[in-house]
Amino acid sequence: MCGIIGYAGKKNAEKIIIKGLSRLEYRGYDSAGIAVLEKGDLHIRKKQGKLSVLADELKRAPLKGVTGIGHTRWATHGIPSDINAHPHPSGSEDIAVVHNGIIENYREIKKHLQNKGYLFRSDTDSEVIAHLVSDNYKGDLYLAVKGAVKKIRGSYAFAVVHRDEPGRIVGSRMDAPLIAGVGKGENFVASDIPAILDHTKKVIYLENGDIVDLSSQDLKVFDRTGRKARRKKDTITWDISQAEKKGYKHFMLKEIFEQPDVMRDIINTRLKKEKVVFQELSIKKKDLAKIKNIAIVACGTAYHAGLTAKYMIEKHTGIPVWVDTSSEFRYRDPLVDKKTLTVVISQSGETADTLAALREARKKGSSVLAVCNVVGSSIARESDGVVYTHAGPEIAVASTKAYVAQLTSLYLLTIYLAEAKGAKKADTDALVKQLKKLPAEADRLLDGYRSKKNPIAKYAEEFHKYYLARHNKSCFLYLARNINFPNALEGALKLKEISYISAEGYPAGEMKHGPIALIDENPWVVCIAVRSATYEKMISNIQEIRARGGIVIAIVSEGDREIKGTKAKYVIEIPDVPEVFSPALVVIPLQLLAYYVAAEFGYDIDQPRNLAKSVTVE
Ligand code: F6R
Repeated sequence: MCGIIGYAGKKNAEKIIIKGLSRLEYRGYDSAGIAVLEKGDLHIRKKQGKLSVLADELKRAPLKGVTGIGHTRWATHGIPSDINAHPHPSGSEDIAVVHNGIIENYREIKKHLQNKGYLFRSDTDSEVIAHLVSDNYKGDLYLAVKGAVKKIRGSYAFAVVHRDEPGRIVGSRMDAPLIAGVGKGENFVASDIPAILDHTKKVIYLENGDIVDLSSQDLKVFDRTGRKARRKKDTITWDISQAEKKGYKHFMLKEIFEQPDVMRDIINTRLKKEKVVFQELSIKKKDLAKIKNIAIVACGTAYHAGLTAKYMIEKHTGIPVWVDTSSEFRYRDPLVDKKTLTVVISQSGETADTLAALREARKKGSSVLAVCNVVGSSIARESDGVVYTHAGPEIAVASTKAYVAQLTSLYLLTIYLAEAKGAKKADTDALVKQLKKLPAEADRLLDGYRSKKNPIAKYAEEFHKYYLARHNKSCFLYLARNINFPNALEGALKLKEISYISAEGYPAGEMKHGPIALIDENPWVVCIAVRSATYEKMISNIQEIRARGGIVIAIVSEGDREIKGTKAKYVIEIPDVPEVFSPALVVIPLQLLAYYVAAEFGYDIDQPRNLAKSVTVE
């Protein structure tokens, strides 16, 4: 879960690499480093801390070469420190490597190399790559990498340079993302597109086992058998401005406000003459009609989107659905077969557990459909069919617009499946009609929160004061029922991710089975009580919380009168839409609440501690 970049061209490599790393910092940010080839020398600088620490150091002593590699780290093996930061040099310091992933057999390789006299400096698994390449080096970096990758097991995307071959970078990938960027008189490798988008829109998605060998003038890809591979060059259709803050203080806030447009774009792309069309879906509708059950598999926020989809799909298609976190699914011998459609949901398309779950499902004969944001990602490529969510790049570590994009795509998928299963046209038409109204409703909802002094920002400020006055004993509880229950989990996840405050999400009906013991004047309880079949039950829950001194923030449908009588301390209204579509709106104030609470505490909202954007390790 680190970010890597390599540049070979004619411009100053340091500048290009540091800028590129700033676009990859979402992948990890506990240390950063760079290696540049310059006049027969290999210069390595690396620093614990954010990229800015390294950038400051480079301002004092800049590097001048035109070829180099860089890394931003999220520690797996070895604490964040200067020595564990990448690039890792070989013993003679003529080779440097940057790596994302985990080398599973590194202990074995390390022992073998130590016995041969190699000296290791760091506690990382990655360092073995530098020494292995060195051990295999006989004057040709490509051949040395080819020899090294034969010996390593695990997940990797790495790039390596050698002092004696200025202008050359060799990289390889296995189960971790790596793209090659093709420029004019310059070429790149990187973990993700934003890192190179200032320079080129032409990218090659490298496949597992590929080795890329590049210089400023040349870029070759070899497959795992060593044969020269012809890989398609894709053109990126989005702009770097989409990956920038555009005047917002944080990416998270910008991404929250992008949500109506994201919904709109998805719906416009998918609806042709009011019919749902998935242009890129290679699983045929007639095959979807035959499925008997659906297994949804995902992690974190994507898992919450999957839980929400269960309610929609079961209600509108009659197909039984179960939902698992990927890490549970992959190890429990799941009962899927060729009658099951496995739907994997992933923003990044690189989450290690979800990728493994996908492979497990396919091994058992199930077709796999990916709902994925990153085009060309491993999960998209290994699935039988893919529905891209087209949310654009999501940079903030806490996922917001990707979730709403997943929900919107899953609404469309539900309608598509309902049609495949022979639902009445009038019913699917009614769903389409309602869905089309959602983006405008989301716009209207967000309009109330555009100013810095909006009500949710005020509640957050009050919570902050309350928290300090209560000597940090306050926490959050999120309660909801039915299709909004997954939003209770999502609201709690958002809050704990970026404000480090303890938060739990529960189905409100479970309150009496335990969580009610938590209620006194300390916790703030967010109750999702929008118009729904279980509305009255939510009112009872609110009364029970109030009776025990709990502070309630109620999320209700516009025009609600009854909640006022419950003495909920704060009431947040959302546009009144049919219950099935409410999750895509309800989540917006939950995201804003998490954002403003974290802002009150002054935390690093886009890069919360211990987290990384794409979890490519187990
Ligand atoms: C939460 C968050 C994570 C991800 C999870 C899955 O804000 O970002 O919980 O949702 O790591 O990631 P993807 O969707 O990339 O598979």
